[in-house]
Amino acid sequence: MLTIYHLRSCGGALILGRMEIQRPIDIDACSTWLEIDLGAIKNNLNLLTKLTGRPVMPVVKANAYGHGLIEVSKAAVEAGVGWLGVARIEEALALRAAGVACKILVLGYTPPKQVGAAVQEGISLTVYDKTVAQSYADEAAQAGGSVSVHVKVDSGMGRLGVFPRDAVDFVRWLKGQRGLDVEAIFTHFARADETKYATTDEQIERFDGVLKELEKEGIKPRLVHAVNSAGTLNYPAGRYDLARCGIVMYGLQPSPDSPLPEGFIPALSWNTHLVSLKMLPPGHGVSYNFQYFTQKNERIGAIAIGYADGFRRRAGNIVLVRGKRVPVVGAVCMDQCMVQLDDVPEARLQDEVVLIGRQGDEMISADELAKDWGTINYEVLCGLADRVPRIYFK
Ligand SMILES: Cc1ncc(COP(=O)(O)O)c(C=O)c1O
Repeated sequence: MLTIYHLRSCGGALILGRMEIQRPIDIDACSTWLEIDLGAIKNNLNLLTKLTGRPVMPVVKANAYGHGLIEVSKAAVEAGVGWLGVARIEEALALRAAGVACKILVLGYTPPKQVGAAVQEGISLTVYDKTVAQSYADEAAQAGGSVSVHVKVDSGMGRLGVFPRDAVDFVRWLKGQRGLDVEAIFTHFARADETKYATTDEQIERFDGVLKELEKEGIKPRLVHAVNSAGTLNYPAGRYDLARCGIVMYGLQPSPDSPLPEGFIPALSWNTHLVSLKMLPPGHGVSYNFQYFTQKNERIGAIAIGYADGFRRRAGNIVLVRGKRVPVVGAVCMDQCMVQLDDVPEARLQDEVVLIGRQGDEMISADELAKDWGTINYEVLCGLADRVPRIYFK
């Protein structure tokens, strides 16, 4: 029987890859682990619902941006959401298999061969192309039912979607197909996090044009949606009936230009342990290819984290030990890396080390890592490996 780590009262489920161990968690039993605060997810969802005055569709693709598809989705449903957005049908089917019963929209492409499963499980699909939609209709009819579809309009993103000029004809055609039920129409913004450009206003205008044309034809979609997180914060006119929110629900800003309003809480922190501690003499190489040499007697620790966990193999990484920022030295290995601890004489073997999160007065955010790594916070989160156990707090 594992003991509960008292400081954190972390009873709950430990999710390791796809395996769930239902017993109290002892973080001392983990080399590295993610702590996910489901209370923060619910808090952020409540704030979003208040802010928009509309239902929110949490976007839980890519393992809920690394936070854990099933746990985050269940928490969101507990918080009252009626829709979840995923990228792939496999994610939707995993949710159904876990007993998640709310409406689910696959935002990306679905292979026609999976349409039978969508019909059976009541999963809504995105359509934007007549040939593919025709095969959906055929597959759905063969499965003896109909599949709900959301029509995607490319109002300017240059990704998936029917062009505005073809949208009305496409919707009319879809409505004539047995096996398809047109449930919604939607679009996606390319630059909602960059308010200095007119792009989003132009996209809204084009999308509104499509809605007006449909109205003239006597077609009123049951549901209209457009905004992502940045759109939700910056473009109230694009909120329509539903806000599709990912990054802000996880408590992070969509971009440095789109800061979060008060009250949002980051849901994830990332931790490891100091697993080795020793003095190396001057001139000693550290890690593969000796990208670092000690200058003097140096206190070098190893931490149980590597690029296979999602920690980038680059120079200049920083972690927190005993509430102090310390440099990672030498190359990041697959499963571990080294830290220079001369400024932390109080550090001890098996100390907790923070890669994302707070320790004492110091904090490293996913935004800081993203900046250091030359990427966006989304990629930092999605890069967190499956093998890192997730520990959930209610
Ligand atoms: C179509 C669509 N809608 C909504 C989202 C959610 O985006 P965000 O995490 O910025 O809210 C995404 C994510 O990329 C998306 O592809």
